[in-house]
Amino acid sequence: MNSKNNIILIGFMGSGKTTFGRWISMSHSMKFLDTDEYIEKKYNKLIKDIFRESGEEAFRDMETQAVRELADSCDNCVISVGGGLPVRDINRRLLKELGVVVYLEAEVDELVKRLSKDTSRPLLAGGNLREKIESLMTAREELYKDAADVIVKTDGRRFEDMYADIVSAI
Ligand code: S3P
Repeated sequence: MNSKNNIILIGFMGSGKTTFGRWISMSHSMKFLDTDEYIEKKYNKLIKDIFRESGEEAFRDMETQAVRELADSCDNCVISVGGGLPVRDINRRLLKELGVVVYLEAEVDELVKRLSKDTSRPLLAGGNLREKIESLMTAREELYKDAADVIVKTDGRRFEDMYADIVSAI
């Protein structure tokens, strides 16, 4: 499929990429990386401050740069990527080169529940949460599927079973 043995987790905000990614890394002795954390550390700023000060496009450029840098340094890593990162064509191509791309699919109802108290994600701030999620999901769902080597359903499932889906697909 590709030359690198990384697992890349993509999916909507709140789909569990970071929690599941940490679980995989602990239980299968892989290094864990998260593009949001990588960017926050590199620029010493919170994502929401980057959005406020520099805007979304500047943040997307930082994401593309982050994927390029990770491509040079990651092997046997689990990498959780920000929910909007696979929207750029170049990023989907770079992710595929980086390893097995796993789309964590979650239902809108579940995402609304999980994100209802969140204050860290600028794209969900203000207005009607469900409408925001639905409209972003409509714009992104096909791109997530296009990027994915494996699609894993998340709602109500145990991590062991989700991981088994990945293994059986690669
Ligand atoms: C975003 C998702 C966030 C973060 C930023 C933008 C998006 O990451 O990168 O707030 O556009 O979907 P998570 O998916 O880890 O929440």
